[in-house]
Amino acid sequence: MSVLIKNGRVVTASDDFLADVFIQNEKITKVAENISLATTTVIDAANKLVIPGGIDVHTHIDMPYGDIKSTDDFETGTIAAAFGGTTTIIDFAVQSKGQSLFDALNIWKQKADGKAVIDYGFHIIITDANEKYLSELDKVVNEGVTSFKLFTAYPGRLMLNDSDIFRVMQQAKQNGALIMMHAENGYVIDKLIQQTLAEGKTEPIYHALTRPSALEGEATNRTIALAKVADVPVYIVHVTCNEAIDAIKQARMQGQKVFGETCPHYLLLSEDDLRRPNFEGAKYVLSPPLREKKHQQTLWDSLNDNVLQTIATDHCPFNFRQHKELGRYDFTKIPNGAPGIENRLHLSYEFGVNQKRFSLNRWVELVSTNPAKIFGMYPQKGEIAAGCDADIVIWNPNTAHTISAQTHHMRVDYNMFEGFKVTGNAETVIARGEVIVEKNKFLSKPGRGKFIKRNLFIKK
Ligand code: URP
Ligand code: ZN
Ligand code: ZN
Repeated sequence: MSVLIKNGRVVTASDDFLADVFIQNEKITKVAENISLATTTVIDAANKLVIPGGIDVHTHIDMPYGDIKSTDDFETGTIAAAFGGTTTIIDFAVQSKGQSLFDALNIWKQKADGKAVIDYGFHIIITDANEKYLSELDKVVNEGVTSFKLFTAYPGRLMLNDSDIFRVMQQAKQNGALIMMHAENGYVIDKLIQQTLAEGKTEPIYHALTRPSALEGEATNRTIALAKVADVPVYIVHVTCNEAIDAIKQARMQGQKVFGETCPHYLLLSEDDLRRPNFEGAKYVLSPPLREKKHQQTLWDSLNDNVLQTIATDHCPFNFRQHKELGRYDFTKIPNGAPGIENRLHLSYEFGVNQKRFSLNRWVELVSTNPAKIFGMYPQKGEIAAGCDADIVIWNPNTAHTISAQTHHMRVDYNMFEGFKVTGNAETVIARGEVIVEKNKFLSKPGRGKFIKRNLFIKK
């Protein structure tokens, strides 16, 4: 099977030129002017952008959370991703305490197998750093799972203490894996929560008020210090605030390999959303929490200045009805997490490119090329050149729409960005050579997505 994309404006992280793109057997085979090879499918991309498919490196699909689980499975979640121009995700497999890393990984592989419509990889969240599991780390890396998320938050559930964090980092130093950190000071947050509930304060806004930005700053600084001593690179997930940015910027200026991600909700929403009446604030309960608006400009600047390198979603959808309502009388019972996988490119294009906060090339770099590079998939993914996977989005820069739960494809009953007007849409989405979305229609079938064995961030 072959596809010829004609007359498009090819935009990558580093280039911007008019060209045709020829695809054969899942790969891009030629990028040049006026290609006239025989083909089964011709797509006219005149006046449209031809970009590498989006890569979302932070999703929680089909993730258990107490007695419930995130509402998208790998079929609905990846279809929604595809509609938004994302052609690869990296999801988090969670190791339970006392569980082998391989068991955790296999459970997540089974969740995705037969369902995912786009390619996927996994990070593993390590919650039990017992030496017997650390010895598995090297083997898991050889299976193409080359990044591990640790938490300094949620004591007793997900948090590792500093010595365990350091021990995992040492192991990563041996095998070249990348450590990702959810950085918030879990002990102090728990104390603040206890005191706040004792004062009878139960509304969603207290989720944010018990997780102050200074505690994200503290944990980010601590993580960076531990990574420096262990001599490993570190990637800080979902960065939200000035204090964390200061820590990352400082470390990078000193030459330490520290990387950072933020998400559309931290750029565009704020603590005020948690104050919405009628318990609607619960829709915005996620961690780290939405911050005061004063942090937003710093995040935008950091995306531009390369203090942050990626935009991901932390897609972790729970329904407002039934799920978020579990915490109507106690904000600590509101499931943490919110949907976003479908609107990452829409929002970052509208508020980044259209509103001139960063360039078109930088947009591609933030949503596709850097995620591929940092997480060991480049140049297979995140690039448009001969030899790369034919994961391509034909982006119509002129299509306007209003984001709404009425029309989105995510399996969840609300959208945090309800009513946001965006211009720019993924008109045609090609995943390893197959047109899977065309003009708002999904054309493929579940199970076509493949597990991606990722390379190491650092070559040993
Ligand atoms: O609230 C969130 N972000 N839930 C997902 C888990 C995490 O910490 O990323
Ligand atoms: Zn997290
Ligand atoms: Zn997350």
